[in-house]
Amino acid sequence: MTSRTVVVTGATGNVGSELVRLLAGRADLDVRAVTRDPAGADLPDGVAAVRADLLDPRDASAHDAAFAGADAVFLVWPTASPEGAELVVDAIARHARRVVFLSALGVPESDPDGEPPAGLFHATLEWLIRRTGPEWTFLRAGGFATNTLGWAEEIRASGTVHWVYGGASRSLIHEADIAAVAARALTEDGHAGASYELTGPSVVTQVEQVRLIGEAVGRDVRWVELSEQDARVRLRDQGWTPEFIEGGLAHWARIVDEPEPVTDTVEKLTGAPARSFAQWANEHADAFR
Ligand SMILES: NC(=O)c1ccc[n+]([C@@H]2O[C@H](COP(=O)([O-])OP(=O)(O)OC[C@H]3O[C@@H](n4cnc5c(N)ncnc54)[C@H](OP(=O)(O)O)[C@@H]3O)[C@@H](O)[C@H]2O)c1
Repeated sequence: MTSRTVVVTGATGNVGSELVRLLAGRADLDVRAVTRDPAGADLPDGVAAVRADLLDPRDASAHDAAFAGADAVFLVWPTASPEGAELVVDAIARHARRVVFLSALGVPESDPDGEPPAGLFHATLEWLIRRTGPEWTFLRAGGFATNTLGWAEEIRASGTVHWVYGGASRSLIHEADIAAVAARALTEDGHAGASYELTGPSVVTQVEQVRLIGEAVGRDVRWVELSEQDARVRLRDQGWTPEFIEGGLAHWARIVDEPEPVTDTVEKLTGAPARSFAQWANEHADAFR
């Protein structure tokens, strides 16, 4: 049997590590994992680690080596700025037949013949990819359940979560569901030119997320509502840009009354319902203990 090469960027991250686990061991695939640190990467047997720094334009020969001979590439853009993305997208286009990009819910359609879109970097990446040759599929994911790991330190230390807009209703998605869709888009026909909107199976308020984490951990975890101004200061101290902070606060305020959308795309594409936040919390309980 001739095997096809699938290259996974972000292979040590939340989604990529699930994806390489799903693809590893398939006799029809050679799986290559891109990381800045092949020696430190904990990868399944049979997955080849290749070193490349996607954000370093001086690393262009490593980009070429990473994508050489690829049938399909899973692209995770590792930072919130699109700077340097054109080089990487061009390198993928030189080598691969197909690219599946981890994008974000709410990205507007872009015109590849028009101006590069302003705003979210995901939109710029989609625009760049549309302008190149390979078949593309965009996975427009909603908020990840893994974002709540940002509460883990405080929960471990004090059993509380100080955060803003407890009533914000989010359709957080399990990273394994994004990976399951990615695995199909990378290896099956029929996904070219599709933009898939991926969410969890229902909305869960932030207060309820904290309660479910407590239930999974086996202790009461208390929500303490922060003011918008206090949250702004915290986000600033964590290094987020003013654009991200104001965009985030406006979004969380809005989804108190207008919950995030829920799609059934995961189930349609994988045949299994999207995993619930409660399931995610149970599987990740150790991180909060
Ligand atoms: N969080 C959300 O709610 C959300 C929603 C929609 C879309 N997204 C998108 O999802 C992506 C993040 O996915 P994730 O959570 O699975 O990733 P993650 O867990 O944050 O991991 C980041 C990955 O990027 C790699 N990486 C970092 N810098 C790199 C560099 N300079 N060159 C090459 N690789 C580099 C890391 O690999 P090494 O350290 O091994 O090099 C790691 O595998 C982002 O593009 C984000 O915008 C997130």
